[in-house]
Amino acid sequence: MTNSPVTVTVTGASGQISYGMLFRIAAGAMLGHDTPVRLRLLEIPAAIRSAEGVAMELDDGAYPLLSSIDITDDPRTAFDGSGVALLVGARPRTKGMERADLLAANGAIFTEHGTAINAVAAADVKVLVVGNPANTNAFIAMSNAPDVPRSRFTALTRLDHNRAIAQLSRKTGAPAADIAKVAVWGNHSATQYPDLFHATVAGRPALDVVNDEAWLTDDFISTVQQRGTAIIAARGSSSAASAASAAIDHIHDWTLGAPDWVSMAVCSDGSYGVPDGLISSFPVTCEAGDYTIVPDLEIGDFSRTRIDASVRELVDERAAVVELGFAAG
Ligand code: NAD
Ligand code: LMR
Repeated sequence: MTNSPVTVTVTGASGQISYGMLFRIAAGAMLGHDTPVRLRLLEIPAAIRSAEGVAMELDDGAYPLLSSIDITDDPRTAFDGSGVALLVGARPRTKGMERADLLAANGAIFTEHGTAINAVAAADVKVLVVGNPANTNAFIAMSNAPDVPRSRFTALTRLDHNRAIAQLSRKTGAPAADIAKVAVWGNHSATQYPDLFHATVAGRPALDVVNDEAWLTDDFISTVQQRGTAIIAARGSSSAASAASAAIDHIHDWTLGAPDWVSMAVCSDGSYGVPDGLISSFPVTCEAGDYTIVPDLEIGDFSRTRIDASVRELVDERAAVVELGFAAG
């Protein structure tokens, strides 16, 4: 049976990540092989021509599930009826730009996009912010969409989650499929905390299998935290295909469910001492179109210190955008 088509809005559609993502979305990798998609590509006027080129290539794929492609530079047109909104387009940091300048440039973009989502998106829209600083951009969009439930605004930390699984797989020699219950807490930044205290490898506690405390403290955590920077240093530009893949994983699991925990940055309900309303990464379970923060995990001192440090950074980012007038305090 074929489902009704879903409108999928992608911002920054001419960029690197979108180029790694759009063809897989059209092929059914994100919403399943029985759900047609209507693509809405949003770009700034200077990049519309390039988006037209991407659309020509999408046409040339002759994807059976691709119902239509629209290209626009108007957010209200782009988000009209949107069931999935992938907010990838963001202002990158350029030479001489201070952190406050970056927050201000992105604050304007995510205020506009949040306002448009509030006005015209589908009632059950699922929003994933990829553009950095992803958590705080999601917070700004959410703050400007008061009629949309807060639970609908999320940011991407699945890439960090997948990176953590990959590092544990390398260390233990176990395939990624044997690894479960990895968690990423906090901000998608160098303060994030990838947590292996609940993780298992083929059903055994991961830290027993690893049996190397120095690896956890001196290698694993910093490798995951610094992976984005390492990729920029090696490739000359930020991760694109792996980010695209993680974004597809995030929406796929949120929509269709997942057999294991995944990490998502979602609006905190106060769980684990993370202030209510912050968009922070948690381990979650996904079922039937909803996610739930994994409850009642034991958090030892080692983890507590690291979660608190990343959450403090998010609190500071929130204070900065409130001061800039992009969200109420
Ligand atoms: P890119 O520069 O290749 O593409 C960004 C695109 O966004 C450009 O085509 C640009 O024209 C467009 N854009 C800018 N402002 C826009 C607006 N107001 N409306 C619509 N489109 C707009 O960048 P990329 O490599 O695709 O990365 C995109 C973002 O994702 C960056 O912020 C990057 O730092 C971030 N990122 C996040 C993660 C994560 O895990 N959360 C991982 C990798 C990259
Ligand atoms: C990543 O994690 O690869 C990116 O968020 C890095 C970056 O700064 O764009």
